[in-house]
Amino acid sequence: MQIELSSTDSEGIFRLRIGDPFPTSSVCSHRVFPKLTNLSLSQDTPDEVGALLQPPSSEGSELRWELGLDVGDLIYGLGQTMGGINKRGGRYRMYAVDDHRHTPDKSSLYGAHNFLLLKTSQGVAGLFVDHPGEVVFDVGFTQRDRLVISVPDQNVDLYIIEGSDLIGVVKRFMKLVGRPWMPPRWAFGYHQSRWGYRDSKEVLQVADALEAHNIPCDAIYLDLDYMDSFKVFTTSDERFPDFQSFASSLKARDIRLVSIVDPGVKIQPGYDVYDEGKEQGYFVKHSDGSIFKAAVWPGYTHLPDFLNPAARAWWGTLYKKLYRLGIEGFWNDMNEPAVFFSSEGMAELTEVFRSHTNDPQDLGIEFLDFMKTLNSISNNRDDYRAMRQASETHGVVSQERVHNLYGFMMAKATAEGFASFASGQRLFLISRSSYIGQHRYGGLWTGDNSSWWDHLRLHIQHMVSLGVCGFFFVGADIGGFSSDCSGELLVRWTQLGVFSPFLRNHSALTTRRQEPWAFDSKTLDETRKAIYLRYALLPYIYSEYRRSREEGVPLVRMLALDFEYDARAQRVEDQFMFGQGLLIAPILHPNLTERMVYLPAGRWLRWRTLHPSVEGATVFDSGDRCIEVASDEIPVFLRENHMVCFVAPPYAEDKESSRLRVLAFVSDCAVLDVYADDGLTQDFEKGGYAILRLKVERRANDLICEAYIHEGLTTLCPYKRVDFIVYDADGQVARRSVSVLKD
Ligand code: GLC
Repeated sequence: MQIELSSTDSEGIFRLRIGDPFPTSSVCSHRVFPKLTNLSLSQDTPDEVGALLQPPSSEGSELRWELGLDVGDLIYGLGQTMGGINKRGGRYRMYAVDDHRHTPDKSSLYGAHNFLLLKTSQGVAGLFVDHPGEVVFDVGFTQRDRLVISVPDQNVDLYIIEGSDLIGVVKRFMKLVGRPWMPPRWAFGYHQSRWGYRDSKEVLQVADALEAHNIPCDAIYLDLDYMDSFKVFTTSDERFPDFQSFASSLKARDIRLVSIVDPGVKIQPGYDVYDEGKEQGYFVKHSDGSIFKAAVWPGYTHLPDFLNPAARAWWGTLYKKLYRLGIEGFWNDMNEPAVFFSSEGMAELTEVFRSHTNDPQDLGIEFLDFMKTLNSISNNRDDYRAMRQASETHGVVSQERVHNLYGFMMAKATAEGFASFASGQRLFLISRSSYIGQHRYGGLWTGDNSSWWDHLRLHIQHMVSLGVCGFFFVGADIGGFSSDCSGELLVRWTQLGVFSPFLRNHSALTTRRQEPWAFDSKTLDETRKAIYLRYALLPYIYSEYRRSREEGVPLVRMLALDFEYDARAQRVEDQFMFGQGLLIAPILHPNLTERMVYLPAGRWLRWRTLHPSVEGATVFDSGDRCIEVASDEIPVFLRENHMVCFVAPPYAEDKESSRLRVLAFVSDCAVLDVYADDGLTQDFEKGGYAILRLKVERRANDLICEAYIHEGLTTLCPYKRVDFIVYDADGQVARRSVSVLKD
């Protein structure tokens, strides 16, 4: 076993390299890892974690690391997996799969996020297993007191990240994997989607309904239906005639179009994407050089080989066709890659059928055998083993070995292509499959959840667990994708969505309609209120997203990151932190009008979000509190010595957008930086932004409120007046103050 130990000088990141790992590009290319001659870990790093830097055990072709777990040890991370926020007690198989039933027994979902954040009695550490094939994390499942990591390969990079606290570890990890990309500002608005908006007429009706019901919306999504025969990068002339004027009419209403893009290219001579890909040899092959056939929506397709830089460059530029038509954002789907069946799989199924009977009417118990084979041919591992991709560094490799990179490399292709034809603009991209490092190119949605209350809870678990893995811009289908949603579930989910970086209502074909107006007037009214709150909070959300990416601290966080030494906070599964100062405790079960909330150390101001005029706030001390929650309300608490800023919600009479309102809860001092830029271009990288600093400070017996341009260009700050309301530690309005900004 060839082993090399290296470290980034004094930065507390160690790398154990075994064999010749496949370069995933999850780690920023500029990071250098000089070889270590002697190992000295910080005192904060638990001994067992340090011991992982020794050669792992090797059984057959598998590498295996084991670590003892004490009763009190906590393990977070692993991104998009089932199981709670604390991952103990589960076994997680990192192998991207298109599986739309997210039931508790599922060990794999769409992505691979091999990062663990550990807190033991001895200290904290991060562990990143950089391997693009399968990795299994048995986190106290087989043996309650053991963490076992197994990799069926002899080539892998293992990173250990030190830190004196959990936040410190996450920040270092973010330095390793890089900053999340900066989406356009409209990415943070409300987005409306459904599989089944059949034609441009229906999409325009959705836009009309949004307007008629006074629901602000930044984007409508085009699912499969916009394509001609499910051919990627085409539009249907029949259902979407005169696409450009359709797109412009939506744009005139400030609604942008986002379209789905699937990797499978329909096999159809004469279809330019197919012809070009075939001619240039850009598709995934078999070992004998023939092109692999994978059936997806259009029937048999070929899959682009995104490991091949030339294929990536080609694919990236194809988005230009859609962009030119007025589609402004992209939604990369089915990129695990999903395979309904291969020709080999279909041959097997046909054979099983034939072996039993010539007449379908005769099938008895043999039907079970048929069903078993039918279920096994989709996304079959043998197919991935049979596929061949052409890499730059390792020649031709089996897809199985690099499986988890497919979605990542597709995102890279999209981002690089976009940069070439929309130079200077910001990309809007969400992807279903992902691997660590992909956050540098776009965001994620968590795939085909269901309209179940359990999945509302899962939304929180995914956001916070993906957050520590670097994915700050994430969200689940609001209301649930599969199954029928109820009005109450939609309201509670939209309320949670207000505090989800990505807020999109999306549902599957044949399910009950799920737009806010599809239920009753109460649902419409309450959903709209939540969406209004989202729009009111956009200055806070946008500013905090930007701060998150600068500082490497996730926008949405498990409580343990902020209250690491609070034994209760470490284990909270149904609340989260949003931005610096807000604690969110959503309603997660039906028929509830109250819930228990755990408030960590310090004091908390309950912000009655229903009434952004902020009157009537109440202060709570730390501890367990039972709070009443109206059906149109989501419990939000502002942390002591913090602020939240907002503009008037769209329903307010005084909608003046240049007036920023600030709710401050201050016993000592609070600072909030409000960030603004043009929202669309990359100019912010060259100084095209403004930071308005808000400061509330207790000096002697007075509270001083200040608002001033701290950085950047005054002209880019849209706020001309700041209205402060300051609550003191007793929950009294201690100060109201207005700051007028000079031009
Ligand atoms: C997949 C996607 C889903 C989409 C559907 C049809 O199931 O996850 O979001 O609506 O395909 O394209």
